[in-house]
Amino acid sequence: MRRKLVVGNWKMHGSRPVNAQLLSALVGARPYGCDVAVCVPFPYLSETAVALTGSDLRWGSQDCSAHEQGAFTGEVSAGMLAEFGCRYAIVGHSERRQFHQEGDQLVADKAKAALGKGVTPIVCVGETLAQREAGDTEAVVKRQLSAVIHTLAHCAGEMVVAYEPVWAIGTGRTATPEQAQAVHALLRAQLLAATPRASEMKILYGGSVKPDNAATLFSQVDIDGGLIGGASLKAADFIAICRAAG
Ligand code: PGA
Repeated sequence: MRRKLVVGNWKMHGSRPVNAQLLSALVGARPYGCDVAVCVPFPYLSETAVALTGSDLRWGSQDCSAHEQGAFTGEVSAGMLAEFGCRYAIVGHSERRQFHQEGDQLVADKAKAALGKGVTPIVCVGETLAQREAGDTEAVVKRQLSAVIHTLAHCAGEMVVAYEPVWAIGTGRTATPEQAQAVHALLRAQLLAATPRASEMKILYGGSVKPDNAATLFSQVDIDGGLIGGASLKAADFIAICRAAG
């Protein structure tokens, strides 16, 4: 039985006083019965680490450079993330793919850079609405995952995968549990063909997960938790989602 994992993706939200309140509410509501983490904007990593140290909550970033160091203005390396105690780094979020033109190979290189420093990459895959309507969902997510599997090679079993249909992110339109499970099963099969560890690997679902739909999504056999955007900014909602996974 895989232990569930719920990860908050704060995106570019927050402020120091608001974060302090949110983090202290999350710490105060333990235990959850599942693994819980928050992926925060880079400047808040330090205070997040202070707020969560001593609890079993983990933290991470929303991106990670593919490079180890050098003249890459604005980028943050995996080594720096490790220095701040990051357990996770989200890579290949659809907002990075869409607004920063990140391709499959760059995402794979970022995942490799993270793993190289002991930071677990949460690799996001997912199709757009046009791709779903064209019947291309399977081809798209398989192509996205295959680049990472190939690049990580024998370490592929160490990543976390997140299936996030682009049409469900921030739209209030969630994939039905059956639609999500169908894609998760495809991804699991692809992982199984690549690594003996596939049956232990976590595949998270993301895209408009809320307290009222979390339990049914998480009850699907290949859904091992969630990557939560909007609802991770409200303590009560995020706590309810974590409880639904526990
Ligand atoms: P959402 O975002 O929960 O606001 O849809 C999920 C994500 O983008 O990770």
